[in-house]
Amino acid sequence: MPNLCIVGLQWGDEGKGKIVDFFADRFDGVVRYNGGSNAGHTIVIGGRTFVFHLLPSGSLKKKKLLIGPGVALDPLTLEGELRLVREERGEADLLVDERCTLVTPYEKQMDAFIEGLRGDDAIGTTKRGIGPSYAMRALRLTPRAGDLVNGTFDMGNALSFYETFLRDLPEIETWKAEAKRVLQGKTGDVGQTIMEMNESGRSVLFEGAQGVLLDIVYGTYPYVTGAHTLANYVPAGLGIPNSYLGEVMGVAKAYTTRVGGGPFPTEIFGESGEKIRAIGREYGATTGRPRRVGWLDLVGLRYAVRINGVSELALTKLDILTKVKEMKVCEAYSIDGAETSDFGRALPKLGRVEPVYREMSSLFGLELEDGGLPGPAEKLVGLLEDALKVKVSLVSTGQERSATMNRSM
Ligand code: IMO
Ligand code: MG
Repeated sequence: MPNLCIVGLQWGDEGKGKIVDFFADRFDGVVRYNGGSNAGHTIVIGGRTFVFHLLPSGSLKKKKLLIGPGVALDPLTLEGELRLVREERGEADLLVDERCTLVTPYEKQMDAFIEGLRGDDAIGTTKRGIGPSYAMRALRLTPRAGDLVNGTFDMGNALSFYETFLRDLPEIETWKAEAKRVLQGKTGDVGQTIMEMNESGRSVLFEGAQGVLLDIVYGTYPYVTGAHTLANYVPAGLGIPNSYLGEVMGVAKAYTTRVGGGPFPTEIFGESGEKIRAIGREYGATTGRPRRVGWLDLVGLRYAVRINGVSELALTKLDILTKVKEMKVCEAYSIDGAETSDFGRALPKLGRVEPVYREMSSLFGLELEDGGLPGPAEKLVGLLEDALKVKVSLVSTGQERSATMNRSM
């Protein structure tokens, strides 16, 4: 059975958690391959809301849970989520890659310190230590999950490094002991495990964190996260051949949001934006910050679909637009009097592009339950399919798992 990768196409918060949860039953394992506890993946089951930052969103089902080496792992956050899963459905079957980058309390402190240095140009990071932990790995100063468990890494150089910048460093020995206890018996080789699962007929779902536009290389640098977010990163990040990636399903919200700083061409200032934020509950699942809200941006989406190799699309939160009277979709950007629909080339000037909108019939008051979509909603989906050249195979019309329309049949 082929694997499937779920990847965000905007600036994160597209609803990946819900889509992963929707598909999880068809797979034997769910794999986190990137990011860390900067992610906040929300699942609503029977009116109860669960947010996972590190564990895969398939955690409430009895699935093999895998955390790959490309994840920046905060063992104490992991422990909290493992406890939640234990209380809900029993012990999780978790394997953490022994090469996983760790987030220690120092990286979190460093994250806040660097944000302070940036002043008005702050990125607005989640302060979960993500950027610093990838940086410390690149500097080869930080232990990996296996190093911590095996006690084979001397953190002395990291401590000397941090003492240069930070005051009031917390004592690290307690953290090391706790982190080791959390990870003990759970580390191994995730890539090998995935290949063995596939070879014995069991498939996995790869759960992307963040979104394409937050990718450290292909996103809106420097207003990005500290590592890779593309589906293309799955094979390299997990140490598996490209052929194991399987299909790539992109997730896009029917409007756009962004948390933190950085250019946002379709941002809505004023009443419609506030309305969407309130109705769509657009507050960060990790930090609680209000998300910036904007119209759907086909220019950014086309770029994301193209560089990710997306083969089908899940459109989320369409129901929110049925509660808003205004409706716009951005089809191109205007820069210095010229129009372009090439996001990659517009990127260096993204802060001063003007969106070119198509006025659409509003979805206000439409009922999205059961059967096919009503005319104006179907028109929006058609516009997306034409512009992106991919099938919109899922439409999410509410938070609950059951509020999902399958259009692939
Ligand atoms: P999910 O997986 C939304 C954003 C932060 C900030 C920038 C850098 O839930 O979609 P970082 O802490 O990563 O160094 O912050 O990236 N960011 C996210 N925004 N959803 C996420 O993940 C995010 N992960 C990071 O808000 O602007
Ligand atoms: Mg989020």
